[in-house]
Amino acid sequence: MASGVGDYGRAVRTTGRGAGGESGPINALRMDGLYKTYGSGENQVDALRDISVGLAAGTFTAVMGPSGSGKSTFLHCAAGLDRPTRGEVWLGDTPLSTMRETKLTRLRRDRIGFVFQAYNLLQALTVQDNITMPLRLSGRPLDRAWCDRVIAQVGIADRLRHRPAELSGGQQQRVAIARALIARPDLVLADEPTGALDSRTGGQVLALLRDIVTDMGQTVLMVTHDPVAASFAQSVLFLADGRLVERLESPTPDAVAERMTHLGDR
Ligand SMILES: Nc1ncnc2c1ncn2[C@@H]1O[C@H](COP(=O)(O)OP(=O)(O)O)[C@@H](O)[C@H]1O
Ligand SMILES: [Mg+2]
Repeated sequence: MASGVGDYGRAVRTTGRGAGGESGPINALRMDGLYKTYGSGENQVDALRDISVGLAAGTFTAVMGPSGSGKSTFLHCAAGLDRPTRGEVWLGDTPLSTMRETKLTRLRRDRIGFVFQAYNLLQALTVQDNITMPLRLSGRPLDRAWCDRVIAQVGIADRLRHRPAELSGGQQQRVAIARALIARPDLVLADEPTGALDSRTGGQVLALLRDIVTDMGQTVLMVTHDPVAASFAQSVLFLADGRLVERLESPTPDAVAERMTHLGDR
């Protein structure tokens, strides 16, 4: 899975098999006819209904929708944390549905970077050790050039020996983004990454997520409820009642907010 030496991003393969057998640019993530149903009978909840979508490698996509529309389920299925009831999830050309739990755990560790609203840094460790933790967990060697590049990109080179508690919220989220990047993931998943930040600091974190896409070729999928946050993405997916109802390209905050107010009309 490693890409070429000196290649900071993930190569976009322009030929070869897409998830559906078609040729063309390969998707970093693809969902095909995805359903997720919780419970049964009277208690049945259709959290996702017939979701089919692809995220091209090297793009930044936001997922929006009202509370309960399926955003978290969508993200969990993308990460192989939740198993769909029907349909398939592809990470690159790897289908997840037939994968055993141990293999899924390894796939998440090696190929997916996670950024959470609450940073989830280990308080006892320095910034440096937090960033490199995923490599220690997987027993992979540190690629010094890549590590330096990641630290420079997130802008925390002067804080490496500090503990998380000594950093601002925005700095802690930058460390979390560096940790998400250290294993050169195929996909970065962010769940409300600016939910705990003020709007100015949040804007800086969103600009960083955009920059890791444009500068490093990363693929980012972000759940948010904030139209301004969503406008940093190149594309916004709107969920309503478990369905993918719209995909908006080159979103502006106003266009996103306008779509959100009309989701209930459907
Ligand atoms: N583990 C679960 N068991 C039962 N129902 C669930 C579970 N997780 C989510 N749901 C239901 O699925 C729907 C979608 O939830 P979720 O994906 O969390 O939405 P969102 O993140 O957009 O608020 C909701 O109706 C929710 O109550
Ligand atoms: Mg949620």
